[in-house]
Order: sequence, then C-alpha cells, then structure tokens
Amino acid sequence: MMRLILISILSISLFASCTKRTEEEPSKATEAQKSQNAELVVGTDAAYAPFESETSDKSIVGFDIEILKAIGEKSGLKLRFVNTPWEGLFNQLESGDRDILISAITINDERKKVMDFSEPYFEAVQLIVVPLSSKISKFSELKGKKIGVQTGTTGDEVASGLLGKTSDDIKRFEGTPLALQELSARGVDAVIADNGVINNFMANNKSDFKTISDPTFKKEFYGIAVKKGNTELIKKINEGLAAIKADGTYDSIFKKYFGDK
Ligand code: ARG
Repeated sequence: MMRLILISILSISLFASCTKRTEEEPSKATEAQKSQNAELVVGTDAAYAPFESETSDKSIVGFDIEILKAIGEKSGLKLRFVNTPWEGLFNQLESGDRDILISAITINDERKKVMDFSEPYFEAVQLIVVPLSSKISKFSELKGKKIGVQTGTTGDEVASGLLGKTSDDIKRFEGTPLALQELSARGVDAVIADNGVINNFMANNKSDFKTISDPTFKKEFYGIAVKKGNTELIKKINEGLAAIKADGTYDSIFKKYFGDK
C-alpha cells in the first residue's frame, strides 16, 4: 500500500515537471523568435556622401548603408535606418534609441570606452582641402589659418592637434557639408575630413579646389557600433561582415563606390 502511494506521488510529480517544461518551451521560443525578428534601429548621420546621404525623397543611401544591409541579410537582422545628427549620435546607443550606428565612425580608444565596435570594415585617412589658388601646400602651414571641421570628428582632432583644442581658428560645424560650404564661401582657409568624403566633394569641384595629404595623419578604420556589452549583436554583425567579405558582396559594393582602388 505504502509503495503504491509512493509510486503514484513520484509519477505525479514527474508528470507535473514534464508538463511544466513543455509549457515553458513554446513561450521561450517565441521570445527568442521575437528578438530575432525585432526591427533594429540604425543611426547614421546621413550627410557624409558617399558613405551615407539622403536622397531628395528622404531615403538613406550610400556605401555604409549597402554594407550594413548586406550584413543584415546574412545574419537575419531586420534594419531600419534613421538619419541622426552626428552630435549626440553616440549617446543614442546608451539611451537605447538606436541599436546600431554606422556612420563612417573611426574606431578609437576613447569611443571604445562607451560603445562596442565590429571588426573594421573600411580604411580611411584625413585629407585637407583648400581653394585651388591657396598658397598652403602642407598641413603645418595651416597654423594661423582658419580650419573648418565637423565637431567631434577625427578631423577636429587633427586640427586641434595643430592649433590647440581651444583655438578660435578652428571653426566647428554640425555637419561636414556645412564646413565645405564655408570653404566655398571662403569663411575658412581649409577643411579637414575623411579622404572618402573630400574625394567625393572634389569629384564635382576639381576646378576650384585641391587636396593636401599629410604623412603624419594616421590610418583610421571604420567600425559599426552597438551598445557596450551587446555581444550577441556584435557577433552577428561580425559574422555577417565576414560572410560578405568571403562571398564577394563586400568587394562589389566597394567597387560600386570607390572603383578599383
Ligand atoms: N571618421 C570620422 C570620425 O569618426 C568622421 C565621421 C563622420 N561621419 C558622419 N557620418 N558625419 O570622427
């Protein structure tokens, strides 16, 4: 009698634990599915052609956009790109308003403290642009001249290195196109920004401007950023990046924007 009771108690609890597990499993799966299919919001300062820019019908296009879309396709990420001003862009990860940033962002130690980066996806270097008639022929000759930069970029850093961070001769703009506009209006003597963007500007302005490179400018590498500690997402991005590099997708996008360089 005693044994029978014991057996029935045991089998009841076994049954209970089994049904409990089968109850939990489907809900867990839907949670995982949910996070898999959730739309990720991508922040980009879309005033940085050819990496990211806005068309007249407000769609966001460019090298960065195509690269991340291709990565998303490989890794099953649903992405929505949102034009987001450079100033405050990094904070948007922390606040959760953006899940991913792609914005020609140079990976550096200071930024690594507040966000996590993918493997590098592009190599860049700073480039100086001056009016064709300018007497300036090298970086050091910008001392005492007005330099236009986009606030908080590596171009700003380079200019600050030469003139001092608090110099009145550094004219800081919200966007690189504004700095270039100021150069066209001769409000500044030079602009310093990423080579890809300056070269893109030069494509339409060759008759009025010239570029100056400097051997002391360090190589820079762009990374895709996520909130610090979001290792799951950065892993998916890195896997996708490796996949598009392996199957030629990266190269064909690169070629489309930069030719055979
Ligand atoms: N590579 C430079 C930096 O990280 C400039 C990036 C500016 N990007 C942009 N979309 N405005 O500081």
